[in-house]
Amino acid sequence: MQHVIAIDVGTSGVKAIVINETGEVVTDATTPLLLQTPQPGWAEQDPEAWWQAACGAVKAALAAAHVAPESLAAVGLSGQMHSSVFLDAAGAVIRPALLWCDGRTTKQCEQITKAVGPKGLRKWACNPALEGFTLPKVLWLKKHEPDAFRRLAKVMLPKDYIRFRLTGTLATDPSDASATLMFDTAKQRWSHDILKAVGLKSSLTVDLVGSAEASGVVSAEGAAATGLPAGIPVAGGGADNACGAIGVGAVTPGEAVASWGTSGTVVAPTKTPIVDPGLRAHTFCHAVPNTWYVMGVMLTAGGAFGWFRDQCAKDLAGQGDANMALNDEAAGVPIGALGLTFLPYLQGERTPHRDASARGAFIGLSLAHSRAHMSRAVLEGITFGLRDSVSILQKMDLPLARMLVTGGGAKSPFLRQLQADVYGLPVVGVNREEGPAFGAALLAGVCAGLWRDIPTACKATLKRLPAEKPNKQAHKAFAAPYKRYTSLYPLLRGNF
Ligand code: XUL
Repeated sequence: MQHVIAIDVGTSGVKAIVINETGEVVTDATTPLLLQTPQPGWAEQDPEAWWQAACGAVKAALAAAHVAPESLAAVGLSGQMHSSVFLDAAGAVIRPALLWCDGRTTKQCEQITKAVGPKGLRKWACNPALEGFTLPKVLWLKKHEPDAFRRLAKVMLPKDYIRFRLTGTLATDPSDASATLMFDTAKQRWSHDILKAVGLKSSLTVDLVGSAEASGVVSAEGAAATGLPAGIPVAGGGADNACGAIGVGAVTPGEAVASWGTSGTVVAPTKTPIVDPGLRAHTFCHAVPNTWYVMGVMLTAGGAFGWFRDQCAKDLAGQGDANMALNDEAAGVPIGALGLTFLPYLQGERTPHRDASARGAFIGLSLAHSRAHMSRAVLEGITFGLRDSVSILQKMDLPLARMLVTGGGAKSPFLRQLQADVYGLPVVGVNREEGPAFGAALLAGVCAGLWRDIPTACKATLKRLPAEKPNKQAHKAFAAPYKRYTSLYPLLRGNF
C-alpha cells in the first residue's frame, strides 16, 4: 500500500497528515503556532517557527503512522496565503513574515494603485491592492526597513519556505502566486508589468510549478530534519483555500465551500477568471489546472471565536472541548441573541468592507445577557460575515445550489444548521475533516500517480454527508438580526 504525506502551514498550527492510496487518513499531527501582534492590526510569524513546527508535526505523524518509509510516494504542501517570507541571497530569512491578516500596508496599497492604476490591477492581478496581499508588504519593507530591503533576494509564501527547507528548491504554484498581487492571474505567469510599475525587480520572484507536479525531491538535510525518506518528490502544492476546496471536492464550477479556519472564506471555482465588479471578493488561480475561483474573505472567523474563548471562557480551559461547550451554550439561546450583535472585525476586514482599520464590537449588551448570548452573537456574527460573501457571489451569478462546509463551522450539527439557516442554502459536510491538508495530500497523490487527476482523486476519496436543509422559519427569523448586523459597520466606521 502506498502513502503520501501532506504539510499545511496554518496560522494557529502546522498540521501533517499521512493518507493511504484509498484516501484514508492514517494519522494526523499538529504543532501549535503563536501569532505575534506587535501592534493592533499587525500580525507576524517567524518562518523558522513554521519549519520547526513542520518538522515536529511530520515526525509525530510518521511515528504514529507505522508505515514503511519506502511506501511514502510524495509530499504535499499547503499554507497560509499572501504571508511574506523575505530571503537574502544566501537563503536566510531576513525578518519575521508579515501575515495575510496584517493591516499595516494601507499607504503601500495606495502607492500600488497609483503606480499600476486600477485598470492595470484589474487586468493583470484581477484584484485591487489590499493590505493582506504580498506585494504591499515588500514595499513596506522597502520604506520602513531599508537595510533589510537591500538584502532582499527572494519573496516567497509560507508553504514554499517549507519546500525550500525540504528540497532546496525555490518555487511556488499558481494558486499561491496569484495571491501575491505580482502575478498575471488570467495568463498564469508573473506580471512584469506590475513589478515594473512599482519599481521592483522580477528576480524577486521564484520559479512556477504546477500544483500536482514535482517541484524537487527531499534532500539529505530535509530528510535528517523531518524523518522523511530522502529522494521522494515534493508536489507544487497550493494555497490553503485552494487546497481546502480540493479537500472537500470543490474543484468545478457549481460547487462552493465555506471554510472556518482562523479566517473565514467562501470559495467558488470558475472556468475563467471572473472579477467582482465591486472588487469586494478576490479572484485567484485554483490549484486545479485551467480553473480559477472567486473568494470572499473574513479575516477573523475562527480567529474571533478563539479570541472570545480565550478571553471570556477561561474557566473552560483544560475541561474537555471548550469550543464545544461554548457551542452548546450558544445553541440554547434564541436566534438574534436577545438583540445582541457581534461585529467580527478584530483584525480589520476584507469582504465586504475592504477596511484594514475596522474593529470588532459587541452592540446591544444588557444586564439580561450572559456569556451564552455573547457566544451566540459571536457565532451569528461570523456566519453573517460569511453570508455577506455568499450574497456577493450570488450577485455575480455564480451558481450556488448548496454550500460545502469545512473547518470549525462544519464540526457541529448546530453550526451546520446555523449556516444553512443564515445562507438559505443546503449545507453539506464531507467525510474528511482535514481541509487544506487533505487537499494537499490529494495533490501529492496525483503527483505520485496514485490518481489520474484532481477530480478523480476527489471522487475516489471523498463522500458527502447528508445535507442540513435551511429551515424556512429560521431563515426568516434571521432577516432582522442580519439587517441589524449589516447596518452597524457603516454607522461605526468613523469610530474605528
Ligand atoms: C485568504 C486569506 C486567508 C489565509 C488563511 O485570502 O488571507 O484565508 O489564506 O491562511
